[in-house]
Amino acid sequence: MKADVLLGLQWGDEGKGKIVDVLTTKYDIIARFQGGPNAGHTLEFDGIKHVLHTIPSGIFHNGAINVIGNGVVIDPVIFENEIIAIDNLDVEMSKLLISKKAHLILPTHKLLDAASEKAKGKNKIGSTLKGISPTYMDKTGRNGLRVGDISDPNFKEKYEKLKRKHIQILDFYDFEYEVEELEKKWFDSLKTLKRFEHIESEHFIHKALKDGKKILAEGAQGTLLDIDFGSYPFVTSSNTIAAGACTGLGIAPNKIGEVFGIFKAYCTRVGSGPFPSELFDEVGERLGRIGNEFGATTGRSRRCGWIDLPALKYAININGVTKLNMMKADVLSGLDIIKVCTHYMLNGNKIDYLPFEDNENLTPVYTELKGWDKNLMDITSLDEAPKEVHDYIAYLEKELETPISIVSVGPDRKQTFFR
Ligand code: GDP
Ligand code: IMO
Ligand code: MG
Repeated sequence: MKADVLLGLQWGDEGKGKIVDVLTTKYDIIARFQGGPNAGHTLEFDGIKHVLHTIPSGIFHNGAINVIGNGVVIDPVIFENEIIAIDNLDVEMSKLLISKKAHLILPTHKLLDAASEKAKGKNKIGSTLKGISPTYMDKTGRNGLRVGDISDPNFKEKYEKLKRKHIQILDFYDFEYEVEELEKKWFDSLKTLKRFEHIESEHFIHKALKDGKKILAEGAQGTLLDIDFGSYPFVTSSNTIAAGACTGLGIAPNKIGEVFGIFKAYCTRVGSGPFPSELFDEVGERLGRIGNEFGATTGRSRRCGWIDLPALKYAININGVTKLNMMKADVLSGLDIIKVCTHYMLNGNKIDYLPFEDNENLTPVYTELKGWDKNLMDITSLDEAPKEVHDYIAYLEKELETPISIVSVGPDRKQTFFR
């Protein structure tokens, strides 16, 4: 048996949560492999919207086991709030398992994130301020605390040692902070984390694969936010790509099956950094308004633009995407023309890839397709979609050389069509 991977191909918020929820009925195990509460994965069904940050998006289907893998970083306070939010929803909590090797976000990691962003001034990354980068720095620096450490009798001592180191670093910054209250909440919230079974998730996953169980690995963020292949330094601090499922869950590369790549029918980005096809006109404003493009974690407005083929092709190659899922087709309704970025111009030369340098100076080159008027949110089958929708899908499939297996036309589970 092989594990399938589902991940974002743009700058995050493609609609991963929605599709994982829809696909969960086909899987035995849903496992998050990287990122932390910088993620905000939205699911909608029965008229209610749920936003998950740490918990995998398979949690609302009774039956599937949900695993938080070793590659994830956990803030126990945010985790506790997520549990409270779903506690009265008839969710089987016993099916949520947490890797002992997942790293903990300490209160001082969040302070360090804020201090670092403040010091960067106008060059700030636009971090979600959830402490992601300082936590991964401690992981690779071999100083981190992990979920399995909570039951160590010396846990408090280990915590104090790491906190002292953080305080020393904070002293270098011009940054006011208050740690006691945050710390109290943090220690209180560990009780909730302790209620769940802590496992050696790689062994659990190996056995599950051997036993023929179907696994879906759920990514967070998107390929263009990957620490190695994204628009560095305006990226997150983990490998968001398919390889991240190997390191973040302990799945061997030859045990990866399908790779589902999710993209919006247009493009968004939240936070700083290059975005060649960004729109600053009324079309961009319209995409944001109709697409309700506000961050699920921070509430910030998302920057909007046209779909970017060079960036998508790059993401498809890096991840080995086997099937594409196109989200938010409904948001394009009512536009006379839809533009697609096919290339960039850089210093007078036409290029079709994201270069190492000068990302800010890329000028997008567009081709135009005919838009459509019909509201897609009410259609009950893709056959009811206008010809122009099918033309758009066919054009993208040809250019991207990958089949589009799912088209989404609204936030609800039901507004999803398989092709
Ligand atoms: P994720 O981080 O990739 O899980 O995506 P987010 O949840 O942050 O952002 C996607 C947003 O789009 C959420 O508000 C979803 O409810 C919404 N959404 C998902 N699919 C569709 C769709 O096909 N059409 C519309 N209009 N909204 C969608
Ligand atoms: P989901 O899983 C969109 C962005 C932040 C910032 C950069 C670094 O919901 O798609 P960080 O807090 O990770 O240090 O921030 O990455 N970012 C996201 N943008 N969706 C996300 O997650 C994101 N997680 C981080 O806005 O630009
Ligand atoms: Mg999101």
